Amino acid sequence: MNVKFLASIIPKISLIKTAYYSIKFKGVIVVGKGAKLNIHRKGQIIFQSSKSSLYLGVHFSASPGAVLDIEKNGKLIIGKSVGLHRGVKTVVSENAILTIGDKSFVNENSRLQCKNLISIGESTSIGWNCTISDSDQHGIYIDNILVNKCLPISIGDNVWICANTAITKGATINDNCIIGINSLVQNKEYQSNYIYAGNPARKIKTFDHWGRL
Ligand SMILES: CC(C)(COP(=O)(O)OP(=O)(O)OC[C@H]1O[C@@H](n2cnc3c(N)ncnc32)[C@H](O)[C@@H]1OP(=O)(O)O)[C@@H](O)C(=O)NCCC(=O)NCCS
Repeated sequence: MNVKFLASIIPKISLIKTAYYSIKFKGVIVVGKGAKLNIHRKGQIIFQSSKSSLYLGVHFSASPGAVLDIEKNGKLIIGKSVGLHRGVKTVVSENAILTIGDKSFVNENSRLQCKNLISIGESTSIGWNCTISDSDQHGIYIDNILVNKCLPISIGDNVWICANTAITKGATINDNCIIGINSLVQNKEYQSNYIYAGNPARKIKTFDHWGRL
């Protein structure tokens, strides 16, 4: 963390919560003003390495605040410089595991709802107002049989999920994918090096490599 960056974030953070949670979970957890953490005494934030860090509700310009709920035996596994920006709500349910890799972030007002297993790779960006949920939140029983089971979600490295996108149970988005604005991503495999978009999301373009400025 360089001095200029530190000076820019200090006015935005709660020093008491930052110190408290960093000491409690033995890693860098920078907590923005107004952020709420509800972590069960058996819930965990686990750091992948000594360089890992979590910025909760610090960036960018939405109203201050973010919510992080971790229930009993839930685990949030964090890489280096992970951002859950302002207005993001993250829920890790009982016994669930949510992993977010190095340099990935979730932008303002998105929601991560992890009932069982969600994995987000490295250098992946989730845009504004996205929803990522590995369950439907309400079970549908037909003839007493649950028909909409929770299914894991996997999002690879260097993926860009554009704004207002919904990612539902069972989706596998491979490395280097882009998902266009307002898309619906479902229980399918989305191949590397494609742009998908629409409701439901379909291939719209392919490329050898993509990068961003
Ligand atoms: C995904 C995206 C980056 C692709 O841009 P692009 O490569 O310039 O794509 P194009 O505009 O050439 O579109 C190619 C085709 O896909 C369609 N398409 C593109 N995005 C679409 C979307 N979100 N939903 C449905 N169709 C879409 C276009 O209509 C076009 O169809 P056509 O060939 O029949 O005319 C862009 O569409 C997008 O979603 N931008 C929003 C980014 C954003 O959310 N930024 C906020 C911060 S996260």
